[in-house]
Amino acid sequence: MLVTVLLLLVTLCAKGGNGVETEEVRRPGHVSVVIVGGTGDLAKKYLWQGFFQLYVNQVNNGNTFSFYGGGLSPADQATPVLFDILKAVSCSKDVSQERCALLKEQFLRLSRYRQLKSLEDYQDLANHIEKKLEEEGMTEAGRLFYLSVPAFAYADIADKINSSCRSTNGAWLRVVLEKPFGHDFRSAQVLASQLGSSLKENEMYRIDHYLGKQVIAKILPFRVENKKFLDPIWNKQHIERVEIVLKETLDVKGRIPFYDQYGVIRDVLQNHLTEVMALLTMRLPRNLSSSEEVLQNKLQIFSSLLPLGKNQAVIGQYQAYRSEVQQELNKTKDHVSLTPTFAAVLAHIDEAQYEGVPLLMISGKMLDERVGYARILFKNDIFCLKNHNSIHCKPKQIVFYFGHGSLQYPAILVSKNLFKPDLINSEWKEVTEHSDISVLGLPISDYYVQTPTEQRDAYVELISYIYAGRKNSFISTENLLASWGLWTPLLSSLASSFPRIYPGGADNEGLLDIRLKGKDIAYNSEVVIISRDQMGGTSGNGFQVMQGKFRSADMVSAWAEELVEKLAADIQEAAEAAVHESGVFHLALSGGSTPLALFHRLALHHFSFPWRNTHVWMVDERCIPLTEVQSNFYSLHNHLLQHVRIPYYNIHPMPVQLNQRLCVEEDGGAQLYEKEISRLVNGSSFHFVLLGVGYDYHTASLFPGHKLDEFGESLVALTESPAKPHQRMSLTFSAINRAHKVAILVMGKGKHELITQLSRVKDNPDKWPVTGVKPANGRMVWYLDYDAIIG
Ligand code: BG6
Repeated sequence: MLVTVLLLLVTLCAKGGNGVETEEVRRPGHVSVVIVGGTGDLAKKYLWQGFFQLYVNQVNNGNTFSFYGGGLSPADQATPVLFDILKAVSCSKDVSQERCALLKEQFLRLSRYRQLKSLEDYQDLANHIEKKLEEEGMTEAGRLFYLSVPAFAYADIADKINSSCRSTNGAWLRVVLEKPFGHDFRSAQVLASQLGSSLKENEMYRIDHYLGKQVIAKILPFRVENKKFLDPIWNKQHIERVEIVLKETLDVKGRIPFYDQYGVIRDVLQNHLTEVMALLTMRLPRNLSSSEEVLQNKLQIFSSLLPLGKNQAVIGQYQAYRSEVQQELNKTKDHVSLTPTFAAVLAHIDEAQYEGVPLLMISGKMLDERVGYARILFKNDIFCLKNHNSIHCKPKQIVFYFGHGSLQYPAILVSKNLFKPDLINSEWKEVTEHSDISVLGLPISDYYVQTPTEQRDAYVELISYIYAGRKNSFISTENLLASWGLWTPLLSSLASSFPRIYPGGADNEGLLDIRLKGKDIAYNSEVVIISRDQMGGTSGNGFQVMQGKFRSADMVSAWAEELVEKLAADIQEAAEAAVHESGVFHLALSGGSTPLALFHRLALHHFSFPWRNTHVWMVDERCIPLTEVQSNFYSLHNHLLQHVRIPYYNIHPMPVQLNQRLCVEEDGGAQLYEKEISRLVNGSSFHFVLLGVGYDYHTASLFPGHKLDEFGESLVALTESPAKPHQRMSLTFSAINRAHKVAILVMGKGKHELITQLSRVKDNPDKWPVTGVKPANGRMVWYLDYDAIIG
């Protein structure tokens, strides 16, 4: 039964000071909320409470609601489970007992369980909603689906919602998703494109529950409100460093099947801590309520971050983790997991305002205390000769205290030697009565402290934002990919690194203390706890780079990190030789996520690389504007070119956009690129071509199932990919096979099948395009990491 609260809300509001009164009539609408996974853990702990709170807040605002808990189990089994959960929801303190009982009763009456398994189940749900609306004579406002299910089910459910649950009368559709959104750049991209085929960007609400924490949601308003104090000091001249820290005391027992695949960087740093970092450092939007502006400014910070290499991180693993993994994953006693449960990462922003300012992101399980905060520590140039205890000599800092820890409430703290902040709004209050505690080295009485008048759970906040359509508190696709673009190369470079083992809790003592050395970070104490041999590693002398043969060509193999080091060194050697011989080096680079670690290596460690004499060409490009995140050039620019001193006129992006359109044959983009190659590259023979291999054996953008020899003598061609974006521009075999040296880089366990298959098959470029790479007079080398070889 639909609730019969207010059907029509008539608001009289006086406009401006002209005395003209306008009558704004808001027609009520009906909102259907569907929690898919409605009897699961998250729904039980947070979501139903969040939606009940929404109901309580909105019940008198004109809209009506119905709530559905969906799941795979049949209704007769799951209904009692759902109602047990619903009965446990509670009201906030300001609601009287009587009113609370009434609201709960209404909420329960409006809620139902529905089996949501097959497409028909979703169609039935849609029919049911429409029938109800018709019976009650209601206009529809919107449909909100909350997918509280494992991420592998997202694409399928989104597809079912798209094909059967869209309203036909223009009501909004919002679909809420929980992390993980992929485990690296590529997988996030695949998931995003699958979701993108069912849902529009403005219909997706990707949750990062940290953005619902009251203190974090107030970072931008605080910065705006206190702009006059902050503007002069929010820069490299005044900031000593920024720390974003989440320390936890619990282990991950019971979550190992998930956690061991992810580890602390993917679980917490890539999302929660990165989001906080962006809020602290992004340019302030002119209008805080413009989602577009907020998201754009946030995105811009990602492109200004210097790449993260292995020297920008330290990792650890609590001692008991190994046996927990063996137990929960049914592994033998010699099984070793390299998954980090602790990480400290040092980032830098390549912008004049923040040049050289260390940004530290730290998180771990089984640490000595539970606390979450972001601190901006300012330089203090006052030296107190007499009274060291004077406030002037103490640390100058602003602390955004998310919660937990010694302070029992979330708060924003500004040390008194900085300034007295303005109150953000009436929902916040100043705390003046203090207990005798210290926060990050300062007695609490040395701070101005602000806290929310009412503490609210992050999910309650986020659900109210979703309902209000406030997209700026959610993760856009671009934002997500940009964040993975930052973290993926670091994750690959750490894939075979050894975490430092720590005992856990107070026993960790100084073992996890870190030290900053310029742009690098390291553990403060030099202890080698365990060696790879002791861990019973897979391949005897695991650290060495080995040479061998693969498909009768040369092969170099090593663990990912050493392999990338070797490849970078080989490219530099080729560059120096070419520059020595002819004064110029022509390098053609592929896109995708595999070479990102190589780009970082070149950007961060090859300071003597002859970039001034190097011309960079593209092996292939997607037919999208070069300014889009998925563009190969965009990623090459972000991860390499912007960090090295290469003249602009030595950079040769592919002309995929001409006459304001993308890859149209008549525009002759491919011929244009070919002409440029012929004009600048001696004999059109690149000195070095870097290739990769896709899961379907494509290389460059030469895909199976095409008559690749049809390109004849052309050096550049427009091609078609089975994946989106379909249109591509690519070097052809004619161009590739003229090169002096061709390197094919393949890394990761995911490529093991492919490498095994390739080791067996004969050349057949139409079926396995990579087998068409056969430099006529040049040398070809496979660079394969051990994961790809051993699997
Ligand atoms: C989750 C992570 O996203 O965030 C957990 O998966 C982590 O591992 C949690 O414990 C921390 O969130 P909070 O709100 O408890 O600080």
